[in-house]
Formats: sequence, structure tokens, C-alpha cells
Amino acid sequence: MKGEEGLRLVTLHSHPEHIEECMKILNDQWPRSRTMRMRSLSTSCDQFPTSLLLLKTTSHGDTEVIGHSRLNTLPREPDAAWIESVVIRQDLRGAGYGRQLMTRTEEYARISGFSTMYLSTHDQQVFYGKLGYEFCPPVCIYGGSVNKHLIPKQFIPPQLTKGVQALSLKSSVVGKDQKCQPAMKQGAPPPASPAPPDPAVPHPPPLPASSKLTKDHITKIEPSSMTKMYMKKDL
Ligand SMILES: CC(C)(COP(=O)(O)OP(=O)(O)OC[C@H]1O[C@@H](n2cnc3c(N)ncnc32)[C@H](O)[C@@H]1OP(=O)(O)O)[C@@H](O)C(=O)NCCC(=O)NCCS
Repeated sequence: MKGEEGLRLVTLHSHPEHIEECMKILNDQWPRSRTMRMRSLSTSCDQFPTSLLLLKTTSHGDTEVIGHSRLNTLPREPDAAWIESVVIRQDLRGAGYGRQLMTRTEEYARISGFSTMYLSTHDQQVFYGKLGYEFCPPVCIYGGSVNKHLIPKQFIPPQLTKGVQALSLKSSVVGKDQKCQPAMKQGAPPPASPAPPDPAVPHPPPLPASSKLTKDHITKIEPSSMTKMYMKKDL
């Protein structure tokens, strides 16, 4: 298979000697301060979040990091994993390594007991679509809120329209005022009322009273209101 030779997936915390290389790959793509990046990477552990490295052994016998992914749990879906920070070293893209990284990450998740993978992306829907991911309603990440923004049709590549149909069919699960709250700690005060919307942030039109999303509703959303799209795959 394309790009498979000499590859293996390992956890970062079991190979801390690769943390600098990993940080460089991530920071070349998404620049962060060294402190912030180290803080995030150093949380990798077997119980999640888990940073995974795709390693390649070169013809000279050296081992180099060529990609990274990060798995986490989802507070409301114990059987599902959240994947983020998927990245392949810039000079190695387009050679099949991204597919290898994702396939192996999914296998790691499956062996860890997860049956579904979720992710969000701004611009890599085609890549994920080729790997079997389909659009889905927003999911709750710990501490975040459900994003009710929908997918403007012009953003959907024709080969992924199946995913859009799936979204329309499943959209009724996103209720009119449904909010995702972080898990409540025992004895914690009830959550505060939601903050008023920030006028500087573009908002999609309100959901129809029935909570059923129609074709019209989706097309009325301006592209500028797009933040990210959620995708899922059953393992
Ligand atoms: C997205 C990324 C991980 C893909 O890795 P890659 O090694 O280039 O991908 P692959 O070569 O394995 O591609 C697998 C398939 O997806 C396709 N593909 C990959 N990136 C694509 C893109 N941006 N647009 C369309 N198709 C794409 C390839 O053509 C290939 O298709 P094929 O199997 O039919 O030949 C890589 O481009 C990357 O690191 N990007 C920057 C970080 C990023 O955006 N990460 C995603 C955050 S959500």
C-alpha cells in the first residue's frame, strides 16, 4: 500500500524523545508559543488525551516523526473519540501518509474501546470524506457548546452530498435551544445563563420553531458564518 513501509504509530508519552520534532510539525502548521505547545503535548497519557505520532524509519535506519494526531474522550458519548490536531509534515503531504495516520489512529481508538470517531474541520472535508467520514450535527466537546451553524451548500463538495443528506435527516436532534453544558461537578452551582450573542460574530438565522431544518434554512446562511464542520465515522 502507498506510503506504508517503515511506518508505525506510537504514543508521544512513550516516546518523549520526539517531542521537539512533534512540536515543530504542529507549530509549522498552527503557530503557538513553545510554552503553550509543551503544556498541551505534555498532557498526553494512556487515559486521554493521547498524542499519537506517525514514525518512519528511513533507509539510513533513522527514525523521524512524519505526523501527529490527538485523541480525546467526549463527555456525552463514552463510546466515541474526538480526533484533532491531525497533521503531516509539510514536505511529505500528498504521499498517502495522512491516510496512514488516520487509519492507524482509528485502529488505536477501536482497540481502546471506541466505536465512533468525531472531528471538526474548516477545510479538509474532502480528505476526511475519502476516509469514510460523513457530516454530522455538532457534538459537545468538554467545556464547549454545541455549534448550531449549518453547512452552506456551496461549501459541500459534490462527492460528499451524501453527508449533507445525512445531516438534514439527523438535524432534528439539534433542538431549538439545545445547549451543551460541561459535565456538572457534584455540589457545583447551576450553570449561569448563556451570555448574550456577540454582535461582532456573525450568526446563522434562528432555527425554525419546529426545530426541523429545511433546505431553505440551510441555504440562507452566509458563508462568513461558517466556522467549522463536524464529521463522524463508525469504526
Ligand atoms: C490534511 C492532511 C493531514 C492530509 O495528509 P496527506 O498526507 O496530504 O493526505 P494523503 O496523501 O494521505 O491523502 C489521502 C487522500 O485524500 C486526498 N486529499 C488529501 N488532502 C486533500 C485536500 N486538501 N483536498 C482534497 N483531497 C485531499 C488525497 O488526494 C488522497 O486521495 P486518494 O486516496 O484518492 O489518492 C495534510 O494535508 C495536512 O497535514 N494538512 C495541514 C493540517 C490540516 O489541515 N489538518 C487537518 C485539520 S482538521
